[in-house]
Amino acid sequence: MRCAAGGDGGPPPAAGGPPGAAPARPLNYRVALITGANTGIGFETAKALARQDYRVVLACRNKEKAEAARAKLQELVPENTRGVEVAVMDLADLGSVRAWAQRAQDFGHPVDVLVNNAGVMACPQMQTRDGFEMQLGVNHLGHFLLTNMLLPLLSTPERPSRIVTVSSAAHYFGHINFDDLQSQRNYDSWRAYGQSKLANVLFSYELARRLPVGANCTANTLHPGVVDTELARYLLPGQTAWWQKPLLQFGKAFSLTPEQGAQTSIYLASSPEVEGVTGKYYNKCRPETSSSESYDATVAARLWDVSAELVGL
Ligand SMILES: NC(=O)c1ccc[n+]([C@@H]2O[C@H](COP(=O)([O-])OP(=O)(O)OC[C@H]3O[C@@H](n4cnc5c(N)ncnc54)[C@H](OP(=O)(O)O)[C@@H]3O)[C@@H](O)[C@H]2O)c1
Repeated sequence: MRCAAGGDGGPPPAAGGPPGAAPARPLNYRVALITGANTGIGFETAKALARQDYRVVLACRNKEKAEAARAKLQELVPENTRGVEVAVMDLADLGSVRAWAQRAQDFGHPVDVLVNNAGVMACPQMQTRDGFEMQLGVNHLGHFLLTNMLLPLLSTPERPSRIVTVSSAAHYFGHINFDDLQSQRNYDSWRAYGQSKLANVLFSYELARRLPVGANCTANTLHPGVVDTELARYLLPGQTAWWQKPLLQFGKAFSLTPEQGAQTSIYLASSPEVEGVTGKYYNKCRPETSSSESYDATVAARLWDVSAELVGL
């Protein structure tokens, strides 16, 4: 899948200041930060934005994997003049998110695109360093804190910016269980994944409502398709029942490549077609109706307040 007016290969920006140098004045190169950019959909999104000459920040939990991805991007996109940067950040450890976001705030360069992409799916019952259920913690709460801390850099009236949150069609079977948000009772890995992906959609819609018009910033969310990536790591042999294996093989044969799966993220992050569009859910580069619970503004506001309290905002 490739979107008609997708951003891959768009025009380079005007010349700006040197990458990495402390800005004496606002620099005019564009910055895109992508979480979970060392592999899968995130890597392909980073590649496309590097081709558009963004300075690309790979926000990853593993420094070695991130450095390897950076080297690969530099090889694949030699025409990029702005550079590729690594930000070591574990979304399962809010301290590391806070520390990096604080450094970004201190540096003060505007962020033009934030892609909340990193994710874990259907893992066994696990907790983040802060004691949250892993999927809610990584997929939603880590991104909630990161986005909120970067908002001063994203909301610059003179510079349009975009926040893209990668959700999933799995949000359709998700439900926000405020009575057991951390899935401590009768843990079901898929139910917890669905809840975290619904949280992505509710967060994105609520963010779009809360961003002031003058902030010149949009917030959208998406389903990337069924994509052959490392996301199924917890479903690998050993963790998979015998009857699930042929189903997985069958699904793999029909899934998208990571490059194809990144197209809606790239489109929302950079296509002129969606300039100013906000508060929408996309699939295959087209707006779609998300689940009925995702439009419940009361649930969204409550989730926002609970999340803010949990991450200590
Ligand atoms: N693949 C699909 O069919 C599909 C369908 C619907 C939605 N999605 C969504 O698409 C997004 C990207 O997934 P993908 O398919 O590209 O999966 P992937 O290949 O597994 O990539 C996930 C990325 O997230 C990173 N990550 C995981 N835990 C993290 C943490 N604690 N802190 C920081 N980064 C962390 C991973 O880092 P490591 O490499 O270090 O593990 C990896 O870079 C996810 O949000 C997923 O829910 C995917």
